[in-house]
Amino acid sequence: DWVMRDHIEEAVQRIRTQVGDEGVILGLSGGVDSSVAAALIQRAIGDQLTCVFVDHGLLRLHEGDQVMEMFADRLHLRVLRVDASELFLRELAGVSDPEQKRKIIGRLFVEVFKAEAAKLTASGASKTAAKWLAQGTIYPDVIESGGAKSKKAVSIKSHHNVGGLPEQLGLKLLEPLRDLFKDEVRELGVALGLPPAMVYRHPFPGPGLGVRILGEVRPEYADLLRRADAIFIEELRSTIEPHSGKSWYELTSQAFAVFLPVKSVGVMGDGRTYDYVVALRAVQTSDFMTADWAELPYSLLKRVSGRIINEVRGINRVTYDVSSKPPATIEWE
Ligand code: XMP
Repeated sequence: DWVMRDHIEEAVQRIRTQVGDEGVILGLSGGVDSSVAAALIQRAIGDQLTCVFVDHGLLRLHEGDQVMEMFADRLHLRVLRVDASELFLRELAGVSDPEQKRKIIGRLFVEVFKAEAAKLTASGASKTAAKWLAQGTIYPDVIESGGAKSKKAVSIKSHHNVGGLPEQLGLKLLEPLRDLFKDEVRELGVALGLPPAMVYRHPFPGPGLGVRILGEVRPEYADLLRRADAIFIEELRSTIEPHSGKSWYELTSQAFAVFLPVKSVGVMGDGRTYDYVVALRAVQTSDFMTADWAELPYSLLKRVSGRIINEVRGINRVTYDVSSKPPATIEWE
């Protein structure tokens, strides 16, 4: 549509004027905001943009490969994938306190990103020597960062804090989505050629599966959780609610599986099992500050639980979380 094309043209001109012929670095997470920012900046300045994708090993099934396929292979962005999963898992080993886990993940994330950014800033090639740090900050982030609301949220769960990063790196800050609301960011993403399925994805927390594996994070737990979660999401996407014609994925705001490191007894064939439990979580919300648990159809829950127990050896029990926020939070940690 014409209005959107004008918007894109205007934003592109603004970025070109601001940046000139200098290099830009952007931390790509695969989330909506950083993805749309990357696509927009690339439209403006092409390969003056370098994206750094820190893979902390706590992503969903095939997610790291999908990010690379989309941005590097299909959209031809210059993306550096930093596989830091060993580092993250090593530092998380033996740690079970949720706040401590969040702090470790946040700190390592910043450290790994800074190390990559420092290499790019020092790089001799004039095209890649970066002078700018781009961030996918959107308007609600701008308002919230001063508000009492976010301070309270932060006191309950410490989120990634990338504030101060541009100063520490000696870079100027580029925030091309600063004036946009989430739905505008999504429209922009689609207009820039990102697939709707990507642009309308549920949010995923920065610490990833690190806060969806209760207690200690172990590689084998992450593996079981990834497979269970993928089955849940696949069934939500493929199950259509007849009245609205929408999928249950579209009818929920966020949905995922949580790994519970407890074992329970079950029976499979004529053998006894003693395996782990997953909880399914699906919520509906407009602002994520409050949320209702989603009344998913029993038939859907039945299919998901049947598939997880049959297909993911090591899990023999599936539960559904019927807690709203407040008093429960959306994530379990
Ligand atoms: P809670 O669990 O506090 O989550 O009800 C509210 C929303 O925030 C997301 N969330 C995070 N997002 N970094 C993020 O980028 C984080 O550390 C983080 N913790 C929670 C959560 O997925 C939900 O959408």
